[in-house]
Amino acid sequence: MPDKEFVSAPLKNAVESGSVCWEAPSNIALVKYWGKKENQIPANPSISFTLKNCKTTTRLNYVKVSDNSTTSRGIEFDVIFEGVKKESFKPKIASFFKRILPYCSYLEEFKFEVVSDNSFPHSSGIASSASGMSALALCVMSLEKSLFPETEDDFFYKKASFLARLGSGSACRSVRGDLVVWGQHQEIPLSSDTYGVQYPFKIADVFKDYQDTILLVDKGKKQVSSTVGHDLMHGHAFAAARFQQAHDHLSVLIPVFEKGDVKQFVKIVEREALTLHAMMMSSDPYFLLMKPNTLAIINKIWEKREESKIPVCFTLDAGANVHMLYPSQFKEEILEFVKNELVVYCENGHYICDEIGKGSKKL
Ligand code: DP6
Repeated sequence: MPDKEFVSAPLKNAVESGSVCWEAPSNIALVKYWGKKENQIPANPSISFTLKNCKTTTRLNYVKVSDNSTTSRGIEFDVIFEGVKKESFKPKIASFFKRILPYCSYLEEFKFEVVSDNSFPHSSGIASSASGMSALALCVMSLEKSLFPETEDDFFYKKASFLARLGSGSACRSVRGDLVVWGQHQEIPLSSDTYGVQYPFKIADVFKDYQDTILLVDKGKKQVSSTVGHDLMHGHAFAAARFQQAHDHLSVLIPVFEKGDVKQFVKIVEREALTLHAMMMSSDPYFLLMKPNTLAIINKIWEKREESKIPVCFTLDAGANVHMLYPSQFKEEILEFVKNELVVYCENGHYICDEIGKGSKKL
């Protein structure tokens, strides 16, 4: 067992039943996680802004089972998403429970109901796995805390992030705010491949309330799952150089965050987004997730930056939507720019206004 620290103690007395509820936000990576090793270990370190408005709220209801009959069948649970029972969500959650069982053996004593809602529309093209897995991991930790009340806060959040990672890598960066590092980096003390840590160094004021306006270019389901995408980094011709670049970009960002160097920030963040897509475009098989409207928006952002001198920039996930990042002092002008010039490129004119946030919350 590699991560002994997180294995729960044998249960003395289980509680009979209960209910816990957490909300967890989504996050947007500045340095991207793309490529992983066995057991959800990232191939390179990443860093993200935790968001505030795009979030998942999850309630976990649990009842003790009278015998150990669940052991052979796996953990028993139902999923209710936005008021409707969802069989199609079960495999992902079943595999999450299976992966975390070695660390949370008490789960076998219960059956569960997972009741979840997103603050953003499910069909918005925004991945809900980061917020969803993070909220569920936090609920599991609240159950753990009711069984082992001596659990300390530090350990609680660390293990929640550790468990969330086993559900979806980027989810481990959604437990805390507001800037989170996941993956070992030699200049970031306590950084770890198995959980996210809050960025430990100075962050200039300009980055403390950064805005993220998400331009929804394509609200459809992802064409290529990130699991498949990560896998294509095995044997990718440029993999080693890319992983090194992520380390280097994180190093460059340390003084950028400290000094509030937005100019350099823009350069690193956009290069990260384009490298991520360049990796997809040059894998075998290759794929292309940007749409014509993604490129139209990127060009508009570049024009706007040139002409207004506002340090607005973009980043991308593994999809066509554009996250437009900028300091809050330019909010009014940028939102005018969105309405006048960008909304035409968004599916049904839809976009989401978000900003950097403080992390998860127990409800
Ligand atoms: C492009 O966390 O969705 O958003 O670990 O397979 O669930 P799995 O992948 P996931 O990958 C996210 C990739 C990314 C970049 C990032 O968030 O760092």
